[in-house]
Amino acid sequence: MLEEIEELRRQALAEIAAAVELQALEELRVRHLGRRSRLREVMSQLGSLGADQRPAVGAASGSAQKAIQEALDQCKAALQEAAEAGTALDVTLPGHRPLSGHLHPLNSLAEELSSIFQRLGFSVVDGPEIEDEYHNFDALNTPADHPARDLQATFYLEGCGLLRTQTSTVQIRIMETTPPPVRVVAPGRCYRRDAVDATHHFTFHQIEGLCVDRQVSLADLKGTLVTMARQLLDPQTRVRFRPHFFPFTEPSVEYDFSCSLCRGEGQGCRVCKGTGWIEIGGAGMVDPAVFEAVGYDPEQYSGFAFGIGIERIAMIRHGIDDIRLFLESDLRFTRQF
Ligand code: PHE
Repeated sequence: MLEEIEELRRQALAEIAAAVELQALEELRVRHLGRRSRLREVMSQLGSLGADQRPAVGAASGSAQKAIQEALDQCKAALQEAAEAGTALDVTLPGHRPLSGHLHPLNSLAEELSSIFQRLGFSVVDGPEIEDEYHNFDALNTPADHPARDLQATFYLEGCGLLRTQTSTVQIRIMETTPPPVRVVAPGRCYRRDAVDATHHFTFHQIEGLCVDRQVSLADLKGTLVTMARQLLDPQTRVRFRPHFFPFTEPSVEYDFSCSLCRGEGQGCRVCKGTGWIEIGGAGMVDPAVFEAVGYDPEQYSGFAFGIGIERIAMIRHGIDDIRLFLESDLRFTRQF
């Protein structure tokens, strides 16, 4: 009888191990442990066995029953897990959204400014960031011994020029290759050997504007800047000129926009520091010496030029109080715009 029990146990365990479906497993449970199974029959007859056989047969059948039950439980758990894994692909779930980038706030502002000027009849042009002294200084009426060069100390590259300190270089490059009239804007990156603080950086961005034609006047310059300011910021924006000096314009001005936060009121305004005005850039009428350098006739043509500090406008627009954030921070900064 002990041998038969051992055989029942071996047979049941082998069949359970081969089962691949929950349904088949249930049938095996009924067949090997059910009320009418051979093992249960053996167990129900224990009472009729002699005292010499009873303990051994009882122990053997009990342990066979336990082993079969454990094998059934294990196999069932494994089959259930496999079944669940098989249905884990739910095609109705939303997909993973691809990470999409966007323009840096300085680039989007440069694009916005460019399109305002395009509507005013300007074309958008480009120029090199690695320049020569001629285009950055000499042709802009700033000879080697001119003190204005000190204000624009830059990075000189060994044997091959310098990093441009201003986009005014593009004025020269355009006039060298295009006969008048010209009307262009040139957005781009500039470099100066300035000490870095909350409002200065050695890398910054400008948009240069140049308009040359017959009888262009300072009033045209002002009209252009006012139109730009009102489209970009607020239709009430005012523009003021302050006398200044640039070697390549005469007369020269620095120009300010009325503060868009306090609307020029000043008092207690943190953006304009109480003055009501925000300095935006430099401008003026193209100096005749510049026209001579590029072969334009200063008797026939006149023109205005301006430079816009892109960071400056972006800072007022977004309330950014540190220029370093534009170039030195990570996506946590740029994602906000
Ligand atoms: N290039 C000048 C600067 O960077 C600004 C400027 C541009 C002035 C055009 C006059 C005309 O400071």
